[in-house]
Amino acid sequence: MAFAIQISNRWMHCVSAVDVMLSRANFFFRNCGSLIIGSFVVLMPLLLFPAVKAQEKVQLSVDASKPGARIDRNIFGQFAEHLGKGVYEGVWVGPDSKIPNTRGIRNDVVAALKAIRIPNIRWPGGCFADEYHWRKGIGPQRVVTLNPNWGGVIEPNTFGTHEFLDFIDQIGSEAYISVNVGSGTPQEAAEWLEYLTTSQQTTLAKERAANGHPTPYKIAYLGIGNESWDCGGNMTPDYYLSQLRIYSRFVRNFNPAQQDKLQMLKIAVGPGGGEARWTEWTESIMKAWQNHQWSWDMNGLSMHNYTVVRWPPAFLSVGFGETEYSQILKSTLEMEDLINKHSAIMDKYDPQKKIALIVDEWGAWYASLPSSHPGFLAQQNSLRDAILAALNLNIFARHADRVRGANIAQMINVLQAMILTDKEKMVLTPTYHVFKMYVPFQDATFVPVAFNAGTYTHGDITLPRVDAIAAKDAVGKLWLEITNVDPNSPVEIETSITGINARAARGETLTAPKVDSVNSFEAPNTVTTKSVSVKIVGGKVTLKLEPKSVTVISVEQ
Ligand code: AHR
Repeated sequence: MAFAIQISNRWMHCVSAVDVMLSRANFFFRNCGSLIIGSFVVLMPLLLFPAVKAQEKVQLSVDASKPGARIDRNIFGQFAEHLGKGVYEGVWVGPDSKIPNTRGIRNDVVAALKAIRIPNIRWPGGCFADEYHWRKGIGPQRVVTLNPNWGGVIEPNTFGTHEFLDFIDQIGSEAYISVNVGSGTPQEAAEWLEYLTTSQQTTLAKERAANGHPTPYKIAYLGIGNESWDCGGNMTPDYYLSQLRIYSRFVRNFNPAQQDKLQMLKIAVGPGGGEARWTEWTESIMKAWQNHQWSWDMNGLSMHNYTVVRWPPAFLSVGFGETEYSQILKSTLEMEDLINKHSAIMDKYDPQKKIALIVDEWGAWYASLPSSHPGFLAQQNSLRDAILAALNLNIFARHADRVRGANIAQMINVLQAMILTDKEKMVLTPTYHVFKMYVPFQDATFVPVAFNAGTYTHGDITLPRVDAIAAKDAVGKLWLEITNVDPNSPVEIETSITGINARAARGETLTAPKVDSVNSFEAPNTVTTKSVSVKIVGGKVTLKLEPKSVTVISVEQ
């Protein structure tokens, strides 16, 4: 029972008949709470529905007349650290490379990333950010340094400020830069911001112009440190707060175009887990913010949470079976608890939700591929990762009022990547396809979906069998995402929609023969999307989900 309730808290689904009722109530309060809190009459009929057995039809009930928060497109952000082949080879090959490139940045990667409409990219780290000195990466003569965090390899600094912002420009994204708090100084960070953003003819602005960019850059987000409680300097909350107050004061953005609406958002270092150490961290920062002086401020609190089960990461990224599939998915669902926990603390000090929770490192972290340098965090990406990505994106969407940014780790060749490269070769991962399928959810309005997920059980692990979210886009089209977690059985879905008159629907699905199916350079389309048949029967949208699949459908009125 304890386990069942834990699941119900986490997911709003059910294990036994009793838990079905608990989870339904929980679901409705979570998704429609502001609309129906206190409405016991509304909940009663739901409590009387029979429990869903494993193979039964799943009924979704969408209320398009009750829009929720906007799903901030920044939850689809990416993270690119100077780590392994993430930047060098993944993005940067240099202008003299035989690999087709534009000013040193690979064309194939740019084209692929453009197609998934990346809202922002966090750079240069990660742990690397707190050892990064920006001046070494500008100008004609680059300083060669070391990357002690990730393999102790040479850092040529050939990819620096201008190259990163050129890359951002080429893919049509926004910059999320993390400044060095751990081993840098406020002066170094302040000067970087002046170099980047001033339009006045200071010496730094002239240097920027001499390096090829006379006009100020736009910097959308600024991270003040990274994991300052660990690789970023092992700081206590109080020590970090003293740094945050100073840095936040001096990292000014001078870009005239960013003084009003497009203001740069400052992101403070937040928690890295759910234990007391992390809740104390969130408490300290949020309490200090509540009482902050005019002279410092922040707009977001970061949170890092990897799906790893236990450290050091030992799960394989390919060549695993259903046991590891279910273990990893169980672990990834902990994201929900973590967000709830830290959101509750944030609500105490910021009931108006001015401060965003930015999950700026998330994803699966497995054992490094045997053929790779262990410090490069290279792993394959399977159908399991696609399902994991969908489950997390859905969690973020359900918390859209507070979670207004997230950055999957990491974009290319590192951890749960969108793209893998091997010199001139490139392959799109299953996770890439999920991000592409979710493009319509970017900045769409969350719409509540009620459903009874049923269960999927493997060994001693029981998970919700189905997950779903819905949203309305700018032109009023309804979008639904439905994940079938069960790797063995299809699921019949029947969706009733209020608030719009469903006239036509279509969709696409992502699945593959096995839970550990991957896309390789030799077989790049093993895990890919195909269209799915969706029918409207008696006003209800009906379709059959394949086992272990991610499906997105659009409904026209
Ligand atoms: O993404 C890999 C590492 O994970 C980052 O450098 C660090 O911030 C985190 O611990």
